[in-house]
Amino acid sequence: MPSLVWLLLLAHATLALSTDENLSDAYKSIFILAGQSNMAGRAGVIAGKLGGDVPPACTPSPFILRLNPNLTWEEARDPLHEGIDVHKPCGIGPGMPFANSVLERDSSIGVIGLVPCAIGATNLTSWSRGHVNYNRMLMRAQAALSDGRGVIRAILWFQGEGDAVFEQDAMCYKEKLKTFFNDIRSDLQMPELPIIQVALPTRNAGNYTDEIREAQLGLELPNLKCVDAWGLPVIKGDAVHLNTDSQIQVGHMLADAFLQLTTASPPPPPSAESCA
Ligand SMILES: *[C@@H]1O[C@H](CO)[C@@H](O)[C@H](O)[C@H]1NC(C)=O
Ligand SMILES: *[C@@H]1O[C@H](CO)[C@@H](O)[C@H](O)[C@H]1NC(C)=O
Ligand SMILES: *[C@@H]1O[C@H](CO)[C@@H](O)[C@H](O)[C@H]1NC(C)=O
Ligand SMILES: *[C@@H]1O[C@H](CO)[C@@H](O)[C@H](O)[C@H]1NC(C)=O
Repeated sequence: MPSLVWLLLLAHATLALSTDENLSDAYKSIFILAGQSNMAGRAGVIAGKLGGDVPPACTPSPFILRLNPNLTWEEARDPLHEGIDVHKPCGIGPGMPFANSVLERDSSIGVIGLVPCAIGATNLTSWSRGHVNYNRMLMRAQAALSDGRGVIRAILWFQGEGDAVFEQDAMCYKEKLKTFFNDIRSDLQMPELPIIQVALPTRNAGNYTDEIREAQLGLELPNLKCVDAWGLPVIKGDAVHLNTDSQIQVGHMLADAFLQLTTASPPPPPSAESCA
């Protein structure tokens, strides 16, 4: 009965908390976050820094951790991609709303470990096997697993703006995306790993946005879902970056899709060792 095991773990974790520790050592449900700037998050940035109040959907929780740039777990908070996507100031993305939503609706998920990997302005080639972003994502995913206290539950993928500008990139997108998903599943030795991607929100990304969206919405693989961000409002004065409310909505759509995908197949129970 895996749910009983999770309950015990949760009780154990809560107990640990009350004695002034944190949940870095708890068994984790791990999520890889990858793609471009809309996954990293640009919302809520004021004068080069995330400002203003933290929206309730993005509130930190001891049950939500992130793998930081130094490959150690810490309590997650926006900007989740700080120190990862270092070329532009990071703000609110879909990660925190996703994690809070999943946690709220299925507490048997246990402790959530987010592994931010997204980088703004990157094309799909740079995410293909052997290229820089792919290698880093794989390295961070492996680091997240290295203590043996966790399982990767899904990859969340929000990319495509960088391939919407030139016809040739857009025409190859679907085939390259399929190869990318197959490669990362294969390198993680998880052929059934759930992947949830986000279809582009706006045509402002480039003249070949329609072709990219067709590829995103049309690609069929087992345990792959696509949620559609089409028409969600962007930041005022910005052509392509989703605003805070839109990012929260994307986070909730990703959570819906994940919970739908996984109700059919519960996670493997933690090993006996991690219950010690
Ligand atoms: C990572 O480690 C370096 C050097 O030890 C330290 O200066 C930095 O603050 C750490 N960064 C984070 C995000 O923990
Ligand atoms: C959690 O505890 C571990 C070990 O007790 C410590 O190394 C780590 O820095 C702590 N993390 C946070 C976020 O406090
Ligand atoms: C993808 O991005 C890389 C790195 O910026 C660049 O060198 C390469 O030319 C781009 N490839 C394509 C097919 O656009
Ligand atoms: C997109 O198409 C329009 C109209 O054909 C053209 O004027 C514009 O330069 C194109 N944009 C890019 C980025 O190529």
